[in-house]
Amino acid sequence: MSVSLKQISKSFVTAHGTVRSVRNVTVEVEQGEFFCLLGPSGCGKTTTIRCIAGLESPDDGEIRLGGELVFSRAKKQATPVYQRNIGMVFQSYAIWPHMNVFDNIAFPLKYGMHKRPSAHEIQQKVANICALVQLEGFESRPSTQLSGGQQQRVALARALIKEPEVVLMDEPLSNLDAKLRMETRLELRQLLKKLGTTAVYVTHDQAEAFAVSDRIGVMLDGRLVQIGTPRDIYLRPSEAFIADFVGRINFLDGEVITLEGRDGRKAARTPIGLVECPGVEKLTNGQKIKMGIRSETIRILESQKGNIVNVFPGAIKSAVFLGEHIDCEVIIESQVFYVKVPPDLEVTVGSQVNVLLPCNSWVVLP
Ligand SMILES: Nc1ncnc2c1ncn2[C@@H]1O[C@H](COP(=O)(O)OP(=O)(O)OP(=O)(O)O)[C@@H](O)[C@H]1O
Ligand SMILES: [Mg+2]
Repeated sequence: MSVSLKQISKSFVTAHGTVRSVRNVTVEVEQGEFFCLLGPSGCGKTTTIRCIAGLESPDDGEIRLGGELVFSRAKKQATPVYQRNIGMVFQSYAIWPHMNVFDNIAFPLKYGMHKRPSAHEIQQKVANICALVQLEGFESRPSTQLSGGQQQRVALARALIKEPEVVLMDEPLSNLDAKLRMETRLELRQLLKKLGTTAVYVTHDQAEAFAVSDRIGVMLDGRLVQIGTPRDIYLRPSEAFIADFVGRINFLDGEVITLEGRDGRKAARTPIGLVECPGVEKLTNGQKIKMGIRSETIRILESQKGNIVNVFPGAIKSAVFLGEHIDCEVIIESQVFYVKVPPDLEVTVGSQVNVLLPCNSWVVLP
């Protein structure tokens, strides 16, 4: 079932004034798509999915599920929560501590259906969903005797037991350890793809969003500022905030110039010198730009080989060994660059190095 939001807005009136939590959000999530809302704390992610579920009533706009209008302020349409075929996983799991695994998972079948299935049917459905989320054998375990990851699976199984066509998940893995989070997010994506369920997933963790999503919608201050595939968002961010939010990036201010004697090729004049990058070729001379380069694309050269463009002399200011890589700060002409270097490279704080800022790694931001 597709999920369509058209010009959705939601404000809250508080003692400190009006908070515009969601502003004119428009997005079409396709049937079977895994869509992620990504953004910093307080940007409106939870409010947006609560509007989709029907737990929050927008001030304006329209919501359609599978093409059917479920909310319209103008047309006075507001389908109640229980009539929207949606499963929801809350950030806090919200599983019932006084029930065992089976009763938690079976709960929506017993209480949320027009026609209650027979005890045998409930047994069967719970067994099937437990197999899918790898909770077989846990059915009679009290909820209080489950690990975080197991509780997460119970919440997920409960959200999926009625085979909803849409599942909404609000930071569902936020309380798990890093390794379990990585395993679970992969299983979650595979499971929902297998079931053909449309997913709207909320997170403020960019790696998680990249790992699970078909497309990501980046939110800031209640607005959806960019929608794209993980690659689009990472490699072609539409603004500096997004570039910075989804990974470590170094910014430079520049001015477009034409290089002398180079067949009209252009470059950017920056505080570290002339930087060549394809993004400036179509811009006009004198134009002021902001450009960015990601820390993992910068290279520390062990020796300067030949005449390579965009190589600058620098000095290592700091180096922190993190196992997978070394986090370095390198100073070039009093500008600090964050650089991720391979763990086997010898970097000595204070040493002089040559730094390659590859042409193709730069993005020019509006
Ligand atoms: N019921 C409410 N009453 C008043 N303000 C609210 C209410 N719910 C949310 N807000 C405000 O709306 C804004 C968006 O909140 P929301 O919970 O949607 O953010 P979020 O993106 O989910 O953040 P987080 O990542 O911290 O969960 C915040 O400024 C929040 O304080
Ligand atoms: Mg939230």
